[in-house]
Amino acid sequence: MVAQVIDGKELAQSVRAEWKLRVDRLVQSGVKPGLAVIIVGDNPASAIYVKNKVKACSDIGIYSEVHSFSKDAIQQDVLDCIRSLNGNPRIHGILVQLPLPLQFENNRIITSIAVEKDIDGFHLYNVGALVTGNTVFSPCTPFGVMVMLQRNHIPVEGRHAVVIGRSNIVGKPMALMLLERGATVTICTSKTHNLTQFTQNADILVVATGKPRMIGAGMVKPGAVVIDVGINRLADGTLCGDVDFEAVRTVAGYITPVPGGVGPMTITMLLCNTILAAERAHADGEIR
Ligand code: GUN
Repeated sequence: MVAQVIDGKELAQSVRAEWKLRVDRLVQSGVKPGLAVIIVGDNPASAIYVKNKVKACSDIGIYSEVHSFSKDAIQQDVLDCIRSLNGNPRIHGILVQLPLPLQFENNRIITSIAVEKDIDGFHLYNVGALVTGNTVFSPCTPFGVMVMLQRNHIPVEGRHAVVIGRSNIVGKPMALMLLERGATVTICTSKTHNLTQFTQNADILVVATGKPRMIGAGMVKPGAVVIDVGINRLADGTLCGDVDFEAVRTVAGYITPVPGGVGPMTITMLLCNTILAAERAHADGEIR
């Protein structure tokens, strides 16, 4: 078997074209969706992510602004910035790029974002909403994975999904979203004993460990759907995922490449959540 490759770049382009119409509709009714991005410190990867987010906003017609703080900034200054953005009607979504420098308390920062502007879905209220099936905003990376499954007509209900990774950004929300769609979910980590015993039983395998090519062909059930969330830079400068793409594609039914798989969908879902936040703010304004 040779797996069908799920092209995240192409899918991202087509859904962005669809959602551009939602932006246009909002703009016609006098609301330009707005995103504020806060970046603290000089992490080069974060700087690239933020640049890409700003460009994606501009391409689809979303207003964006970036608030940059130095790596030794005071937490209170960032909190003050968030408070001001919470009250700014031009801004519908607020994103604090992670990771933050060590002196920052992540939860203090994230829970200071107004719940209805937390387009990452990381606020503890929004995490609770996700856990209880009352989702306000779905975290962007797992949301992107769900859209990839849906748009490729891959059934989730009743299937065994194995998620490797337990981060708050990917692994945990991914597991909850699959569970919500009716999958039987197993959560593993890169340290799980006899990992292969779990992965070989996965109909849907989502890998988010940050360990280059840790999933080989022998770990995958023939015909399985393999979603690679990892993006790793090797010593020779090339990028690879957490899955050995060339080996696993000979066994899997579907597979996502790296780059060009899940990555482009993450930013796409950020745009989606920002549009959603603007639509909700607009609807609330009309009701009042
Ligand atoms: N850092 C890595 N991924 C993310 C993400 O999805 N959102 C934010 N805010 N920071 C990140």
